[in-house]
Amino acid sequence: MAKHTPTSPLQTHLHLLLLLLLLPLLRHANSQSLQDQEQAVLLKLKSYLQSPPFLSHWIPSNSNTSSHCSWPEISCTNNSVTGLSLVNLNITLPVPPFICDLTNLTHVDLNYNYLPGEFPKSLYKCSKLEYLDLSQNYFVGPIPDDIDSLPRLKQLILAGNNFSDIPPAIGRLQELENLQLWQNQFNGSVPPEIGNLSNLKDLNMSWNTKLVPWTLPSNFTKLKKLKNLWIRQSNLIGELPETLGEMEALEVIDLAINSLSGRIPNGLFTLKNLSIVYLFKNTLSGEVPQVIESWNLSILDISENTLTGTIPEEYGNLTKLTELALFLNDFSGEIPKSIGRLPNLGHFRIFNNNFSGTLAPEFGKYSKLKAFEVCVNRLTGKLPDDLCRWGKLEDVVAYGNYLSGELPSSLGNCSSLKIVKVQDNMLSGNIPTGMWTAPNLTTVLMSNNSLTGKLPEKMSSVLSRLEMRDNRFSGNIPTGVSSWTGLKVFDAGNNLFSGAVPRELTALSSLMTLSLDQNQLTGSLPSDIVSWESLATLNFSRNQLSGTIPEKLGLLPGLTALDLSANQLSGEIPDQLGRLKLNQFNLSSNHLSGEIPIVFENSAYEGSFLDNRGLCAPSSEAIKLPICNSESRKSSKLSSKSLALILSLGILLCLLAFSILVIMVRGYWKRNGDSIWKLNPFQRLNFTVSKIISGLTESNLIGSGGSGKVYRVPVNRNGDVVAVKKIWRNKNLEEKLEKEFLAEVKILSSIRHANIVKLMCCISSQTSKLLVYEYLDNRSLDRWLHRRNRPSNLSSRLWSG
Ligand SMILES: *[C@@H]1O[C@H](CO)[C@@H](O)[C@H](O)[C@H]1NC(C)=O
Ligand SMILES: *[C@@H]1O[C@H](CO)[C@@H](O)[C@H](O)[C@H]1NC(C)=O
Ligand SMILES: *[C@@H]1O[C@H](CO)[C@@H](O)[C@H](O)[C@H]1NC(C)=O
Ligand SMILES: *[C@@H]1O[C@H](CO)[C@@H](O)[C@H](O)[C@H]1NC(C)=O
Ligand SMILES: *[C@@H]1O[C@H](CO)[C@@H](O)[C@H](O)[C@H]1NC(C)=O
Ligand SMILES: *[C@@H]1O[C@H](CO)[C@@H](O)[C@H](O)[C@H]1NC(C)=O
Ligand SMILES: *[C@@H]1O[C@H](CO)[C@@H](O)[C@H](O)[C@H]1NC(C)=O
Ligand SMILES: *[C@@H]1O[C@H](CO)[C@@H](O)[C@H](O)[C@H]1NC(C)=O
Ligand SMILES: *[C@@H]1O[C@H](CO)[C@@H](O)[C@H](O)[C@H]1NC(C)=O
Ligand SMILES: *[C@@H]1O[C@H](CO)[C@@H](O)[C@H](O)[C@H]1NC(C)=O
Ligand SMILES: *[C@@H]1O[C@H](CO)[C@@H](O)[C@H](O)[C@H]1NC(C)=O
Ligand SMILES: *[C@@H]1O[C@H](CO)[C@@H](O)[C@H](O)[C@H]1NC(C)=O
Repeated sequence: MAKHTPTSPLQTHLHLLLLLLLLPLLRHANSQSLQDQEQAVLLKLKSYLQSPPFLSHWIPSNSNTSSHCSWPEISCTNNSVTGLSLVNLNITLPVPPFICDLTNLTHVDLNYNYLPGEFPKSLYKCSKLEYLDLSQNYFVGPIPDDIDSLPRLKQLILAGNNFSDIPPAIGRLQELENLQLWQNQFNGSVPPEIGNLSNLKDLNMSWNTKLVPWTLPSNFTKLKKLKNLWIRQSNLIGELPETLGEMEALEVIDLAINSLSGRIPNGLFTLKNLSIVYLFKNTLSGEVPQVIESWNLSILDISENTLTGTIPEEYGNLTKLTELALFLNDFSGEIPKSIGRLPNLGHFRIFNNNFSGTLAPEFGKYSKLKAFEVCVNRLTGKLPDDLCRWGKLEDVVAYGNYLSGELPSSLGNCSSLKIVKVQDNMLSGNIPTGMWTAPNLTTVLMSNNSLTGKLPEKMSSVLSRLEMRDNRFSGNIPTGVSSWTGLKVFDAGNNLFSGAVPRELTALSSLMTLSLDQNQLTGSLPSDIVSWESLATLNFSRNQLSGTIPEKLGLLPGLTALDLSANQLSGEIPDQLGRLKLNQFNLSSNHLSGEIPIVFENSAYEGSFLDNRGLCAPSSEAIKLPICNSESRKSSKLSSKSLALILSLGILLCLLAFSILVIMVRGYWKRNGDSIWKLNPFQRLNFTVSKIISGLTESNLIGSGGSGKVYRVPVNRNGDVVAVKKIWRNKNLEEKLEKEFLAEVKILSSIRHANIVKLMCCISSQTSKLLVYEYLDNRSLDRWLHRRNRPSNLSSRLWSG
C-alpha cells in the first residue's frame, strides 16, 4: 500500500462538504461548552458554600448541558444564566468574586442571609446587572461612592443592613426605578442628588433613625415618576417643600414619625393619583389644605400633630376613603356631615380634638364601619343610630363629650362589637338588649351618664370590664350573674340597684374590682365566698346591708381595699380580717361592736372604724377608739343569765382591774414616764408597740454604742424579727437638730432601695426614741448600723443621731 496518496479534487470537495455539514454541530458544541462553563461556575459556587443541603440538587449533568437552568435558584435566557436567587438560606460567607463569571447575570437576589463585610464591589464585573437585592444581611460600611459602576441598575435593594453612608453618586444611576434603603445605620446626610433619579418610582428610606436631621430636599420633588415615597421615622425636620404638589405620579407618601413642622403644602391634595397619606406623629401646624383634588385618597392619617382649623367640606367627596385619622390635634368646628355618607369609610378616628356640633346621623349607614372613635371632643346630640348596620363595628369610643339621647339601636344586633366606651356624656335610656351578648365584647364603659334599665341575666363570656357607675340603673343583681365568667372589673356604684346581693356573685373567679357602693342593696353579704381569689377591691359602702361581716373575707389573698362603710352591719369584726394587707379599709358608720383585731391598732386605720358605738381597741388609743375594758367585752357576749353570776364576776373583775392598775402604775414609775409611747408607723405593722417595748431586754441586746443600744426583737409567733435601735435623748439636742432628725426619718421611711435597710416605724417617748427596722439576718446588721464610710450624708447623720 502506498504511504501517501495525493488528494483528488473530489476528495477536497467531500471534505468541504463535510465541514459545511459539521459546522452547525461545532457551533452547537461551542455553545454547549459555554453552558458547561456556566454550570461549572455554579458548581464552584456550590462547593464555595460547602455543598449545603439546600443545594443538594445542584448535580453536574452531561446528558443535558443546560439542565442547571431548571434549578429553582437559577433563571436563564436563551440557555444562559441571567438570574441567581439565594434567599433566606442562612449563608454566612462573603459574596464570592467569581459570581460575575456568569457574564449574562442581570438579577442577583441574596435577600435575607447573613452576608458579612462591605458592599461586594466584585459585582461591578456583572456589567449587565439590573436587579440587585442585598437586603436583610450583615453588610457594613458605606455604599461605595462608585456605585454608578453598575449603570444599568433598575432596582437597588439594600434595606435592612448596617450601611453607614449614602453617596451622591447614587444620583447617577439614571436607570434606577426602585431604591430601597430602609433600616440601615446611615449616620451622615442624605444626598439631594437622589432627586436626579428621573426614572425612580419607589423610594423607601424609612427607619433610618441615625441620619443627621435633614429637611426633605426640594430636589426630590423633581422625581416626576415617583409613586411611593416612604421616609417614616428617619429624622426629617423643617418644612415640607411647597413643590410637593409637583410630584404628579405620587400615590403613597409616608413621612410619619418625624419632626416635620409648618403647614401641609397646599399642592399635596391636588395630586390626582394620591391614595395613601401618612403624616402622623410630626409637629405639623396650621390648617389643612382646603383644595382637594386627590379623589383617589383611601387612607389619610394626619393624627398626632398640632393642626388647627376645620375639616373642609370636600372631605365628604373622598369617596374612596377607608381610613380617616385626625386624632390628637387641635381641630375645631363641626365635622362635615358629608363624611358620614362616605361609602367606604371603615375607620373614623377623630378623638382628642376640639370638634363641636353634632355627628352626621348617617355614619355607618352607607359604609362598613369598623372603628368609630370620637372621644374627648365637645360633640353634642345623638350617637348615629346605624353605626353597626353592616355588622362590622368593633369599637365605639365616644367618652368625654356632651352626647345625649340613647345608645345606637344597631348596637343591639352587632356581633362584631368588642369595645364600647361612652362614659362621661349625658346619655339616657336603656342599653340595647342584644349588646350584652355580642360574643367578642370585652369592655363596656358607660359611667357618668343618665342611663337606665336593668342588668342582663346573660352577657358575653369575654366581657372583662363593666363600668357603669353614676347612672340610674335599677333592679336586682340577677342570679344569672354567675355566668358573667370573664368579668374582672365590675363597677356599678351610685345607681339604684336594690334587693339582696345574690350568692351567685361570689362565683366570679376573675373579679379584681367589685364596687356596688351607693345603691339600695339590702340583706346580708354572702358568707360563703367561693372563688374571689383575684379580688383586690371590694366596695359595698352606702347601701342598707345588714348582718355580720363574713369571716371568709379574711381569706381573700389579694384584697387590699375593703369598704363596707355606711351600712347596718353588726356583730364583731372577724379576727380573720387581720390577715389582710389592706391599704384602704373602711367599716365606719355601721353597728359593729366588740374588740377590733389587734393588727388594726395602728394610726394608719384611724379612720376605719368611726361611728360604730360598740367598737373598742384592745390595748392602746392609737386609733382613737376607747380601750376595751373587761366589762364592755363581756357585756357584749353575756346576756343576763343570772344576777349572782354577774355580780360575782363583777367583783372578780374589779379585783382584776385593781391589780392591773397597780401593776401599770408600778411600771410607770419604774420606767420613769416612758410608758407614754407615740407610734409613727411607715407601713402596715404586724406587731404592737407593747411587743417592742417588752422586747427591750438584756437578752435581746445585740449591740451598744455612743448614741444608744440595738436589740433583736422577735415580734410574733411566725418568727418575724425586727431590729430596734434605742436612742437616748440627748438633753442638749437643739430643736433644729430634732427637726432635721425627724425630716430624715421621714425620707428614709419612704425610700425603698435594696441597699437601704427598711425603717418600719418610729416610736418615741419623753426620754427616748425607738427606730424599728427590718431585721437583716443574712447580711451583717452591724455593717448597716455602724458602717464607717457611708454613701450618703443622710444615712450617716441618721445613724449617728
Ligand atoms: C434539557 O433540559 C431542559 C431544561 O430542563 C429541558 O427543557 C430539555 O427538554 C432537556 N433536553 C433533553 C434532551 O433532556
Ligand atoms: C435569545 O435568542 C433569540 C433568538 O436567537 C434572540 O432573538 C434574542 O434576542 C435572545 N435574547 C437575549 C436576551 O439574548
Ligand atoms: C450571553 O448572552 C449572549 C447573548 O444572548 C450570548 O451570545 C452569550 O453566549 C451568552 N454568554 C454565555 C456565557 O452564555
Ligand atoms: C436557617 O436557620 C434556621 C434557624 O436555625 C433554621 O430553622 C432554618 O431551617 C435554616 N434554613 C436553612 C435553609 O438551612
Ligand atoms: C448592626 O447595627 C446594630 C445596631 O447598631 C448592631 O446591633 C449590630 O451588631 C450590627 N451588625 C453588624 C453585622 O455590624
Ligand atoms: C458613621 O458610622 C461609621 C461606621 O459605624 C463610623 O465609622 C463613622 O465614624 C460614623 N460617622 C459619624 C459621623 O458618626
Ligand atoms: C438641588 O436643588 C437646588 C435648588 O433647586 C439646586 O440649586 C441644586 O443644584 C440641586 N442639587 C442637585 C444635586 O441637583
Ligand atoms: C443632577 O442634575 C442636575 C441638572 O438637573 C445637574 O446639574 C447635576 O450635576 C446632577 N447631579 C448629579 C449628581 O448627577
Ligand atoms: C417601605 O417603608 C414602609 C414604612 O414607611 C413599609 O411599611 C413598607 O413596607 C416599605 N415598602 C417596601 C416596598 O418595602
Ligand atoms: C395616575 O394613574 C393612572 C392610572 O394608574 C395612570 O394612567 C396615570 O399615568 C397616573 N398619572 C401620573 C401623573 O402618573
Ligand atoms: C362633591 O361632588 C358632588 C358631585 O360630584 C358635587 O356636586 C359637589 O359640589 C361636591 N362637593 C364638594 C364640596 O366638592
Ligand atoms: C370574634 O373574634 C374572633 C377573633 O378575632 C373572630 O374570628 C370572630 O369572627 C369574631 N366574631 C364575630 C362574631 O365577629
